[in-house]
Formats: sequence, C-alpha cells, structure tokens
Amino acid sequence: MSIKLTADERRRYKTHGRKRGFLKDKDAVHLKETMPGLSLVDGDGRDELLARFKQKNLSSAKLWLEIGFGNGEFLAHLAALHPEDCFIGVDVFLEGVSALLRRLERQGSDNVRVAVDNANIVLLEKIPLDSLDRVIINFPDPWPKKRHNKRRLIQKAFLDLLAPRMRRGGLISLATDWAEYSEWMLDHLDAHKYFANTVEGGGFAPQPQEWLTTRFQNKGQKAGRPARHLLFKKI
Ligand SMILES: C[S@@+](CC[C@H](N)C(=O)[O-])C[C@H]1O[C@@H](n2cnc3c(N)ncnc32)[C@H](O)[C@@H]1O
Repeated sequence: MSIKLTADERRRYKTHGRKRGFLKDKDAVHLKETMPGLSLVDGDGRDELLARFKQKNLSSAKLWLEIGFGNGEFLAHLAALHPEDCFIGVDVFLEGVSALLRRLERQGSDNVRVAVDNANIVLLEKIPLDSLDRVIINFPDPWPKKRHNKRRLIQKAFLDLLAPRMRRGGLISLATDWAEYSEWMLDHLDAHKYFANTVEGGGFAPQPQEWLTTRFQNKGQKAGRPARHLLFKKI
C-alpha cells in the first residue's frame, strides 16, 4: 500500500538542483500532452501497476526503476533492450523528461512510465511494497562539499524507503564518478540490514555488461573521474 503525503510532509523532502532547464515551448506542450498516458497512479499494488503496461507476459515481466534518469539516454537503452519488461523513470528535471519522452517515441518503446517528483515522494506515494526487481541509480548529484552532503540522494532514510519496495533478491545498481561519494554509497549500503553486496569479499562491482556508457559517464572519464559501480541485493 502506498501513502498520500500532506503538503507539509511533502515539504520535508527538499529537491535541490535544476528543475526546468531550457524547455522549448513545443517540448512543454508535448510533455503536457504525453505525460498523462505515462503517469503512475497513487495507491496501486504491484499487479495493478503492471496492468497499466501493455507488455504481453506481465507475470514474467520484471519491474525496473531508474532514479535520476537525466536525459533518459540510459533508460531508453534499457527499455529497448528489454521490451518484455516494465520500466519506471523518476526525475525532477523537465528538460530531461522531455528528452526521454522524445527518445522513447523515436525508438517506439511503450514500456516506460514516468514520475516527475522527488524520488523519496515517488517511493512513498507511487511505488508499491515488494514490487521492484531492479533499481538503478547512475551518477546521482555528488554534492561534494561537506555541508551539502545531506542533500545526497543516498541516505539511510532513502534506503529505508526503498528496501521494502524491492522484492527479495532484487538488485540495486549504483554508479558514481566521485570517489568519495562511491565510498559513501558503499558505507551506507554495507550498513543497511536489507542490502547485501553481490561482490564476493565486498567492494565495487564491474560495470554490468549490458550497461551503456553514457555521454555523462564519458565526460567524467575524460575529466579523470572513472566510474565506480556497486551491485547490491535486497535480502
Ligand atoms: C548528475 S544527473 C545524472 C543523470 C543520469 N543518471 C546520467 O547518468 O546521465 C542527476 C539526476 O538526478 C536528478 N535528481 C536529483 N535529485 C533528485 C531527486 N531527489 N529525485 C529525483 N531525481 C533527482 C537530477 O534532476 C538529474 O537529472
């Protein structure tokens, strides 16, 4: 069961960073017209949520969630790679949402639904308990200054919301090109009682084979910040 937050409760989840970007008028109109068909509905259980997708074999379809999909390059890649599965993308940056919708249209993918809100709020209001098979968090904003660390997405409170919404054995993949944030991620996931590292002996994981190296990752690499990957399992 999901929860409907009051306005006061919503305000507790501050979202930092860009919200709109350079959104052309025609993209704003396209977004407004397209989003209703792609939105999630509060209070759905897993079966009801999956039934909103048009995939043929919903009983074997996996439910993926990408948080902070940016311009949607990675999410669109996965959606095309796994047309039998169902994907949810969450982001607050409208220019990126618009870019994702255009990509999905161009490649003819109909297996993605989108929530435009703070990920914590989306988890509470729209993601059913025990529903997610795969979770992806690639290159979340690093907030490197110590006084800004509390803005980071990966926090114990966030993992406490996410864990019960994942199925047992479900996988969470994370990546960052900020070495200090990668250690922070590792510490937070290692310390959490519902997550276990899939890497024998612990530490970072290799980049999963089907992962696309995005423009964002390439930029970090060229700037001398190679990506580090984590792969944990919900236990
Ligand atoms: C640095 S970008 C990375 C984008 C993308 N994952 C990539 O690898 O190119 C981080 C993304 O997370 C989104 N974001 C930041 N805080 C968020 C939050 N609390 N909930 C949802 N999305 C968030 C931002 O809008 C941005 O698109």
